[in-house]
Amino acid sequence: MRVVAVTGLKGGVGKTSTAVNLAALAATSGMRTLLWDLDPQGAATYCLDLKPKLRGGGRRLIGGGRGGLAAVARTSDIEHLEVVPADSSVREIEKVLSITAKPAKPLRRLLAGTKGTADVVILDCPPGLSAVVEAVASVADVLLVPVVPEPLPFRALDRFTDFLEETRSASPKIVAPFISMIDRRKPVHRRVETEIRARGGFLGAAVPESSAVARMGEEQVPVVISAPLSLAAAEYRKLWAEATERAGL
Ligand SMILES: Nc1ncnc2c1ncn2[C@@H]1O[C@H](COP(=O)(O)OP(=O)(O)OP(=O)(O)O)[C@@H](O)[C@H]1O
Ligand SMILES: [Mg+2]
Repeated sequence: MRVVAVTGLKGGVGKTSTAVNLAALAATSGMRTLLWDLDPQGAATYCLDLKPKLRGGGRRLIGGGRGGLAAVARTSDIEHLEVVPADSSVREIEKVLSITAKPAKPLRRLLAGTKGTADVVILDCPPGLSAVVEAVASVADVLLVPVVPEPLPFRALDRFTDFLEETRSASPKIVAPFISMIDRRKPVHRRVETEIRARGGFLGAAVPESSAVARMGEEQVPVVISAPLSLAAAEYRKLWAEATERAGL
């Protein structure tokens, strides 16, 4: 079992859209996939048309309530894809982890419980530098970080890697940034893309700004399924291929 997290400091940069599409790709390739929505916003839950209800609540789950992730996971419309949905009680996970000396421990224990039933667990993280993100960084095999090619988010990536070093939660080696929501009609996006390619360290996939992805909020179906021929779907497939290689899947 491998853990792929979609995370980062910036909000609204495509983390959830990425997590949902990669989870769909993993599942349709036949991997037993668990998508864990760790954001109280519940956007990943919504995008897969599931009820925003976490059975027993966040505090019970992270506190080691009986049954672990299997007891709260829901089947989705996609074969082989199960989802741990989010409701507002998920913010209790942050509260509990922020006062825990080793925040990774409860998360590691929950993930270990899925070893026999899942091939891959995909984590959709809330934005920001939090105890949840620190714990996720400690347990994940790869951290996918979407970066919109504009100067400010670029700096946010450096703050994010500083945070991992300060908290000693993860080696910067597992950080895998990729370009997200690129619109090459914008000179600044083209310029920053060139800068990124020169600097190196980014994955090759670049998810375009795409109306098909934006429509996921209405259709509640991953774009890799609703519009598999779109450029966005092709880039998500490329991203998944790179992520599986990094994660050792
Ligand atoms: N490639 C894309 N093209 C166009 N719109 C996109 C794309 N990716 C995401 N969006 C839209 O941008 C908004 C934010 O996307 P998303 O929820 O995936 O980001 P996020 O990083 O998870 O946000 P948050 O930090 O709030 O969790 C959504 O309305 C989504 O539909
Ligand atoms: Mg999100």
